[in-house]
Amino acid sequence: MSKTGLFITFEGPEGSGKSTQAQLLSDSLRKVGTETLLLQDPGSTKLGKQLREWLLRGEIGNCTPMTEAFLFIASRTALVQEHIVPAMKKGAVVICDRFHDSTVAYQGFAGGVDPKWLDKVGRMAIGNVMPDMTIVLDLPVTEGFNRIGAGRDNIERRALDFHKRVRQGYLDLAESQKQRFITIDARLDVADIHIEVLRRISHKLMRSGNSVEAISRGAMFRELAKASTNSRNSSAHGVG
Ligand SMILES: Nc1ncnc2c1ncn2[C@@H]1O[C@H](COP(=O)(O)OP(=O)(O)OP(=O)(O)O)[C@@H](O)[C@H]1O
Ligand SMILES: [Mg+2]
Repeated sequence: MSKTGLFITFEGPEGSGKSTQAQLLSDSLRKVGTETLLLQDPGSTKLGKQLREWLLRGEIGNCTPMTEAFLFIASRTALVQEHIVPAMKKGAVVICDRFHDSTVAYQGFAGGVDPKWLDKVGRMAIGNVMPDMTIVLDLPVTEGFNRIGAGRDNIERRALDFHKRVRQGYLDLAESQKQRFITIDARLDVADIHIEVLRRISHKLMRSGNSVEAISRGAMFRELAKASTNSRNSSAHGVG
């Protein structure tokens, strides 16, 4: 039987803790010896880094949401071919900080490109290499901006209404694809969110676990959640 990995993405509005939680999940998995690849979309390829630079410097400032969508999708096709597919073939856990759903939420729901159409085109472009699970860290838009300060890049600087549509877009996506999405209240503490991420992933794997691999992965995530809960409780009581 060919090996298959596990592909998990983090999504959510600005400042909701995606990068923090993606890193924590990756650290926890590596600690127990799981082959893990942590990626950023855009960012983890040459084209992705360039796109990120353009965004930070406001160099794609005046293009339409449709142009933006295709820039992100183009960058994602490289990410999938160069990193995600090879890692999945090796059986690794691939964690990606933002992915396809960001394009649907930002350029679709918030930017005005038909989200259903964009969802379809975006999936086709990446050969339908979609995440097994997507964790949406949900947070009121103003709280996210309080965390990260004034908008740092061209997209962050957009009006509050735009970002409210992004948030609602994610909630709509999660509601319509319950089998893939996990929504977590991002107002919790960093450590509690991490425990919740581990718990919810293990729960999903055990429930959908029709293969030995899924069940054993589910058990591993459950043990990690227990260990994290224990260390959190002992440190909360000053003995850890
Ligand atoms: N649960 C939390 N509670 C309070 N602060 C948090 C929490 N999670 C992350 N932070 C802080 O909020 C800021 C934004 O976190 P992070 O960069 O992980 O978010 P993000 O979703 O990746 O943001 P962006 O959308 O800008 O990429 C950081 O300063 C981080 O330390
Ligand atoms: Mg981030």
